[in-house]
Amino acid sequence: MGRKPVRKWMTGFWAIVMALSLAGCGSQESGNTVIPSVPFPTKAVPETKPDAEDGIPAGTESSAETEKILIAYFTWAENVADDSGADATTSASVQAPGNVAQMAAWIQQETGGDLFSIRVKEPYSADYDECLDRAADEKAENARPVLSERVADMAEYDTVFLGFPNWWYSAPMAVFSFLEENDLNGKKVVLFCSHGTGGLASSVKDISAVLPDSEIETNVLGVYRDDIPECQETINNWLEEIGYIISSLRNRPVRLFLWDVC
Ligand SMILES: Cc1cc2nc3c(=O)[nH]c(=O)nc-3n(C[C@H](O)[C@H](O)[C@H](O)COP(=O)(O)O)c2cc1C
Repeated sequence: MGRKPVRKWMTGFWAIVMALSLAGCGSQESGNTVIPSVPFPTKAVPETKPDAEDGIPAGTESSAETEKILIAYFTWAENVADDSGADATTSASVQAPGNVAQMAAWIQQETGGDLFSIRVKEPYSADYDECLDRAADEKAENARPVLSERVADMAEYDTVFLGFPNWWYSAPMAVFSFLEENDLNGKKVVLFCSHGTGGLASSVKDISAVLPDSEIETNVLGVYRDDIPECQETINNWLEEIGYIISSLRNRPVRLFLWDVC
């Protein structure tokens, strides 16, 4: 009985102590509610010194960030006549978007380069055998098919990714038209190819022969046509090997630190 006043006094004492300590920590008033200030830092301290811009550690830029990139490619599906009688989307031979076009699109997705489709003025047949015959003739004649479009300003690019299908153990002759029309001297050239089991064959040697003053990446990607639908990971691995994706930034989970939202 006699202890009750003491307990009451103690309760009042602790209430005052708590109120004072909360005030000492700092507080934010929200209406009548007193919210104690957050007792931990709102911004974590990054372990490595970030670039001022994006928080990515200095010295880890990919080449895709430092170079202006063009991705030029030739694909059969974009070189058949619209009125050829064959539907480029359903024909058994020609299938949109085209194997090399698909590779180019995935490279573009990672590097952010500009896409350029190499197209001939006189389209190829959508019939496989007819296309084979014309391609064989063009190769035998060392022809340079006339192209329908030009790159607006090749001078602005540091690096040209050049994609092509294996045609008759090399690249389509239109690719050589492209290389002769454009000045790639001093530029880095990165080759990629799709084939029907023949691999790169003599394509790299033939292209290198007409680009004596370009820096040709020795790591060339060749993908068998049946593997195209599943080759995005292969392309990304290759881009990482040649420095166009930084491994530590690959598949980076969304970083949601407090400093991103504050
Ligand atoms: C005219 C022509 C010639 C070809 N010659 C070869 C060849 O010599 N070796 C080979 O492995 N594949 C050859 N192929 C198959 C293509 O390289 C292969 O289907 C490639 O994936 C096509 O890519 P695209 O769809 O981007 O045109 C040839 C295809 C065509 C249409």
